[in-house]
Amino acid sequence: MPGQKLVIEGGKPLSGEIKVQGAKNSSLPILAASLLCCGESVLKNCPMLSDVYASCRILNRLGCKCRAENNMVIVDSSSADKAEIPDEMMREMRSSIIFMGALLGKFGYCSLSYPGGCELGPRPIDMHLDAVRKMGASVNDEFGVIRCRAEKGLHGTKISLKYPSVGATENIMLAAVLAKGETIIYNAAREPEIIDLGMYLNKCGAVVKGAGGSTIVIEGRERLHGCIHNIMPDRIAAATYISAVAATRGEINILNFDATLAESFLPVFEQMGCDVYVYDGNIYVGARKPLKGVGKIITMPHPGFPTDAQAVVMAVLCRAKGSSIFEETIFESRYRHVNALVKMGADIKTAGKAAVIEGVRKMYGAKVEATDLRGGAAMAVAALGAEGITEISELRYIDRGYESIENVLTSLGASVKRV
Ligand code: EPZ
Repeated sequence: MPGQKLVIEGGKPLSGEIKVQGAKNSSLPILAASLLCCGESVLKNCPMLSDVYASCRILNRLGCKCRAENNMVIVDSSSADKAEIPDEMMREMRSSIIFMGALLGKFGYCSLSYPGGCELGPRPIDMHLDAVRKMGASVNDEFGVIRCRAEKGLHGTKISLKYPSVGATENIMLAAVLAKGETIIYNAAREPEIIDLGMYLNKCGAVVKGAGGSTIVIEGRERLHGCIHNIMPDRIAAATYISAVAATRGEINILNFDATLAESFLPVFEQMGCDVYVYDGNIYVGARKPLKGVGKIITMPHPGFPTDAQAVVMAVLCRAKGSSIFEETIFESRYRHVNALVKMGADIKTAGKAAVIEGVRKMYGAKVEATDLRGGAAMAVAALGAEGITEISELRYIDRGYESIENVLTSLGASVKRV
């Protein structure tokens, strides 16, 4: 909704237990993958996010029957008959490029516009286009509209990625599952969401081996059927709510959450001085002691520290004793939340890929604007640990990745209202 904002009164330690929403970055590629199936897929534990609704609208526009209701998306793609996605629909969704592989795999043709940039900086897709060319598609990419055509259908091939791109890995997987022959992806992204996508595809009758590792082998099949799939929990949402508790010196239990999903960032909370316990499939994090700076954190492809957790962890480190340094190696401009944190009293200096944080004793509520998905969440984390009232506008960014963030924070004892 335009013009909404979060009003947060900070200063109260949060505590409680939550079940984390389904993973946005697993649900979006899986929704695109469902297009490849002849039949119905039922996606459970799907987060109710604007990007998910946008994906459902795109699937319906392509002739599928797709509906989302209370954390379940049911999509029947047997009636899919279009391969063009209109500009206005592509604009609604950042990661719409993920439909390219599925459309090419299903119809041998696709036409979609590609905005090419977002709040994190340029979002090139050269690896996506090079890969589908190698699989037999011709690509015409002009005036922001990408038209791909594979007259004789796609064929398997060996693709070595120059960088373990998550989106490129996913697009190749979707293009390869119905291609003729075998496709091997070298230097594939290893994010857990890739494993979830591979599991969904295999349940639909695909043959995907090695997802989660650097080499993925896909054997093309004739056709895929639907399936029932539980979307994995959102590890970045987990990192966000853990950060909210750490910033307020509180404690949290994340219920039935596989701790291996958090291995890339949990150690940083321990370095800060949080107590972290993994027990019976849950995670406990307590921040009763004063926190301290953690030295250098470099964002890396999985299993390194995730770029998506950089902003929310930075918001905690603003009030940790001593200094911390981030090196953001994945995206060009992913420090757009820093100005708002400085406005709230943080001591942060950025230079190119580096951000140096000197812990301050107190931060203060302020009127700030969300700049991007995780940056907006970082402002909420900082606001919870700040003295006084913070108003965060441009909530559409936050709503793209967090299912009713105000309800989750309220359940942890925060005083937050959406107005
Ligand atoms: C996915 O984006 C996620 N989005 C991002 O999450 C996440 O930050 C990112 O992976 C890294 O983990 C979804 O899964 C929907 P990349 P993606 O391709 O696929 C460059 C969030 O907050 N690159 O791994 O776009 C690219 O410019 C979002 O939930 C090329 O140069 O990430 C970037 O610098 C934000 N050429 C780097 O690689 C290409 O062809 C990583 O991009 C493709 C990418």
